[in-house]
Amino acid sequence: MWRGDPVTTVQGLNRDRLKELFDLRSSYNTLMGGDFQTDPYPLWARLRAEAPVHDGTVHRLSGYSGEAFFQGLPFPEVPHFSAFTFAACDAALRDEVTFASSPTVLGESSETPGFETSMLSMNGAMHRRYRALVQPSFVPAKAGWWITKWIEETVQLLVDGLVDQGRAELNVDFCAAIPILTITHSFGIPIEQALEVRASLSQPAKIAAMLAPIVAARREDPQDDLISVLVQAELRDEDGVHQRLSDLEIYSFAILLLLAGSGTTWKQMGIVLTALLERPELLAAVRSDRSLLRPAIEEALRWTPTDPMFSRHVTRDTEFFGKHLPAGSVLHLCLGAANRDPARWDRPDEFDPRRPVKRSLGFGGGFHICLGMHVARAEMLVGIGALLDRLPNLRLDPDGPQPRYIGMYERGATEIPVVFG
Ligand code: HEM
Repeated sequence: MWRGDPVTTVQGLNRDRLKELFDLRSSYNTLMGGDFQTDPYPLWARLRAEAPVHDGTVHRLSGYSGEAFFQGLPFPEVPHFSAFTFAACDAALRDEVTFASSPTVLGESSETPGFETSMLSMNGAMHRRYRALVQPSFVPAKAGWWITKWIEETVQLLVDGLVDQGRAELNVDFCAAIPILTITHSFGIPIEQALEVRASLSQPAKIAAMLAPIVAARREDPQDDLISVLVQAELRDEDGVHQRLSDLEIYSFAILLLLAGSGTTWKQMGIVLTALLERPELLAAVRSDRSLLRPAIEEALRWTPTDPMFSRHVTRDTEFFGKHLPAGSVLHLCLGAANRDPARWDRPDEFDPRRPVKRSLGFGGGFHICLGMHVARAEMLVGIGALLDRLPNLRLDPDGPQPRYIGMYERGATEIPVVFG
């Protein structure tokens, strides 16, 4: 039973709606290149070997003709470049003065809550002030809080629903459900509304309306949850004056966490699971030595990061790895290609959790490095750990469709049909 919340069970989730919202191939996801079916890695290897930086977008250089809309796109009026080596992508992520997250300096206040006005799109000191407000809830020492309060119970409820069935489709019924339930639950949103939140992600006003009563209640009576952290947080402006976040700022924060934290962890968890299920010996090794699960997760983040592409806006003319980048242009960072750079990793195309650990760019890097990375890791560890604990002889369904990785900006498995018992 959820602590302090209405009594809810995972049966409150509508499976068909879950499928519709989380099918990578559905129209819902084509804006993120969900219809991109090719394995881009061989092509990215060629591009990386030819030059660290190319003219054009990763999108077009990868032969994708769809009209995806993502960070750094469209901006048709400015030149676009793409970096493919680890050294070039890492250098750009670490130099936020030359490579800014946003083309413009955002004003302190905005009329509309949403992604564009969130800290992901902020630069410099303003980014640091906003990020510092939530950072304490996302440090490694807080992983236990996330696990015991918001993750463990959801995971066990989801496995309860599968355990007697002998077969399951883990991508949607399990991986997709965990992150959206974790985040919405940590906001105090009941399980029955979680899918409504997911369906409304492109309509900030609807999410704001769902959050408004919770924000008001937490202002009156703070609890041990994330909205309470936000209503109590104090922003210090440039003159050192403290002020509380407005409702609008809280909605923007919440929308960012929902957008950044639900689709990503879902797909990355599916990638880890697929990589293990397709290698039964490795799966058996992880099952018997659970300390291998964490390296398997890190290796999947390197080998196939769910977000293989981010962008930066060039603020001043610069010579960068053999290319002249004019001020105002966009530099796309192909993190997927960077993570398989043979200059940094031996046998980079192999999924090998036993390889020596080296930092990859699966969670980005520099000041904007993923805020939720320890939460994501905890969700994947607890989720996959529970499947291994409770579903004996878990294996891919030999009669089902085999999972394939698809997607341009958000990569993930098509489906993960399994049998067990
Ligand atoms: C495996 C799952 C995840 C992956 C692969 C991932 C990846 C990333 C990457 C690559 C960035 C950097 C973007 C940039 O530099 O422009 C980022 C930023 C961010 N992520 Fe994640 N993420 C994941 C899960 C999460 C979760 C669970 C949350 C929240 C609960 C979250 C919240 C954020 C936020 C707030 C930012 C913006 C940070 C900033 O601008 O300072 N992410 N993520």
